[in-house]
Parts: sequence; C-alpha cells; structure tokens
Amino acid sequence: MSFIKPAFNVEEVRAEFPILSREVHGKPLIYLDSGASAQKPRAVIEAMTRAMEHSYANVHRGLHTLANETTDAYEQARESVRRFINAPSVNEVVFTKGATDAINLVASSYGLSLKAGDEIVVSQMEHHANIVPWHFLRERKGIVLKFVPVIDDGRLDMDAYRALLGPKTKMVALTHMSNVLGTINPVKEIIEAAHAAGVPVLLDGAQGVVHETVDVQVLDVDFYVFSGHKLYGPTGIGVLYGKAERLAALPPYQGGGEMIGVVTEDLITYADPPHRFEAGTPAIVEAIGLGAAVEWLEKLDRKAVAAHERALYQRVRHGLEGANWLTEIGTAPGKGAIFSFSVEGAHAHDIAQILDRYGVAVRAGTHCAEPLMRRFGLTSSARASFALYNTLDEADSFVDALVKAQGFFA
Ligand SMILES: Cc1ncc(COP(=O)(O)O)c(C=O)c1O
Repeated sequence: MSFIKPAFNVEEVRAEFPILSREVHGKPLIYLDSGASAQKPRAVIEAMTRAMEHSYANVHRGLHTLANETTDAYEQARESVRRFINAPSVNEVVFTKGATDAINLVASSYGLSLKAGDEIVVSQMEHHANIVPWHFLRERKGIVLKFVPVIDDGRLDMDAYRALLGPKTKMVALTHMSNVLGTINPVKEIIEAAHAAGVPVLLDGAQGVVHETVDVQVLDVDFYVFSGHKLYGPTGIGVLYGKAERLAALPPYQGGGEMIGVVTEDLITYADPPHRFEAGTPAIVEAIGLGAAVEWLEKLDRKAVAAHERALYQRVRHGLEGANWLTEIGTAPGKGAIFSFSVEGAHAHDIAQILDRYGVAVRAGTHCAEPLMRRFGLTSSARASFALYNTLDEADSFVDALVKAQGFFA
C-alpha cells in the first residue's frame, strides 16, 4: 500500500515553529538566515524536552532502566538518520558535533595514510569547513590541494575538475550545495568521474541535505557529512555517513571511553564503527533532537518543499528585476533557494543592519568562503537563505525592505 503524503502547506508548517511568531524591532520576524542555522519545529523541541524530563541517563554503559531507555532513544535516532539518507546500515552513521567535525574526522584519520605530494581535490566554492582541515594536511604532511575553479554563473568548471583527477589524487572533497551561490553541484557525475579514477569522494552536505533528497546508495558516495542545526535540528550534533569499508579502514580520530575494544597498560584495540568514532559521552539529547527533526521532515513531501523554496527564490529575483544597483552572486541553472548579493555603494554589513530594522534577518560577511569571495572580487556579500517555513509574502517584504535599504545609499 502506498502512503500518500499531504500536500505541502506553508502556513501549517510555520505554525509548528514557535519562534516565527515573534517580532523584531516591532515588525514581524522574517527569518532569511536559515542557511546559517534553521529554526526548530515543536517536534524537535518537545523530543529534547521529553528526553530530559522523562528518560535521561548516559548511553551504552548503564544497566538500569533510564540508561537502557536513553540508549534505545539514541540508537533509534541513528536509525532515523540512516533511513533519511538511505544508508545500508546504522553502522555507517557516525554522530559528530557537526559537518565541520565530520570533515575534520575524515581529514585527520584518512590523512594519516597520505604522504607528501598526494593530492586532494576541493573547489573554490567550499566553506572553510571543507578547506581548512585539508590545509592542515598541506601544512603538516606536504599534501597538495587542487581547487576546481568556479565559472561566472557559479557552477563548477567540470572540464577542469576531470583534468585534476590523476594518479596522485587521494580524495575529492566537494560541497553538494554552495552556501553562498546556491549552486547544486552535479554530484552524481562528480562521483562517477572520481570513482573511474579510483578516488573516493566526500560530499559536504551541510546545505545539500536540507534542500535535496539524499540517497547515499544512489549517489554511491564514500562519505557524506552534515549538521543537525541547519536541518531543523539542534546544534552540537551532526553526521558522518561513510561506506562500511571506508569507515573500517579509518583509524580512530579521538580516544576515550566507548570507542575501544580492550585497553591494557601496553595495548589498545578499537571498537567497530560507528562507536570507534564516538569517543566520550556523545551529544545524547541533541542526537535525539536530530532524530526527531528527520522524522518530522520525512512526513513532508520533500519534492513539494523543494518546489516551494525555489518559488521563494524566483519571487525575489522577479521582484528585483531591473534593479541595476544590485549584483547577484550565483545564477547557476537549477540553483537552490539562496540569494547572495551586493548593493552598489553599500557595505553588506550596513545592508544587513538596515534590513534588521525592518525585521528581516539576513547574513552578511564572507560566509566562511574566502576563496570564493576572492574569485568574485568581493570582500563580503549579503545573503538571504530561504527555508520551508518562509512565505511568498515574506519574499515580497524582503524585496520591499531591500529597495528601501538601497535608498539610503543611492
Ligand atoms: C556548505 C557548508 N559546509 C559546512 C558548514 C559548516 O557547518 P557547521 O558549522 O555546522 O559545522 C556550513 C555552515 O555554514 C556550510 O554552509
């Protein structure tokens, strides 16, 4: 029997986010900074509260009822995440602090087997989270970083990408979706080309997993990472998906309780993944919150959500058509709901502060993507990033507020 999901209704969804009813400077909040961190639905808040009020203890080590219940809830969250990305096994789902932590884990552990002259392919559009951990390997081991260039509309130069793959390439680490440009990269094609060259692929899904439906088996990706807090879940929790054989080949990243097999005075053995990579007491309540977030998302028609988010972006573009004082950064076909821009004669920080007076929250700065900023000759930009709870009216109000803000600099 097939299960038909109800059509996506933005007003119903909004009502599940308590924070969205607040005001800022006497105006209704228009939150367009979900790319930095998304707001939380009641399902997440309540799951975390319930965990702390009813069934809280440390996991994996107790024999009493609360310890068992909490362990079950923590492991159930892992199963929910597994289902959400269609991983073959829960043992391929490692809980981390976030996307940054997950990339550091892979770079540090995988990096141990690399030698000077080995190459890692990243791109000019990466968030620093997917550049700096690899830079550590450049500094410490003489690994060479190769950057796939970005073309003017914000797409990766795929010919240049293919040309970078060679016998020295040991990893391709690219973003699924750019946090600045909104570009959704052709990840299937990227992975196929890398695998044809015998190279594993790590995808930074911090933005991609929020806006696209991810199936790690269809992608055939080796590592996929993301953060809970951008996916309507809590901070302090994230995910490293790794193919079983890839995780099995990685040495532990951090040492401590829960990640060992045996410890004596002159010997240690390690637990199997995922526990090998979860040293110490994990973010228990946060993992339960992330489980609730993905379960909540699963109840929505994600294709309808994606269409709604794209409609928000199109509405803004349409509203700003002919605005010759505005430059949009990133216009790739099929891009996701992120609108980055600069306003002639105005600093992005000033624009963001003026928009805030109208209740509109946008991000301004380098977006932790300095190579990309440099590529476009910018020192900063402003960014409106849309989420499933934003409405077309909010998109219109943002356009109105931006036109007024620009008026201060005309
Ligand atoms: C594409 C991308 N990768 C990685 C990160 C880092 O995520 P976190 O700070 O949650 O670890 C972000 C956060 O903005 C991002 O947008």
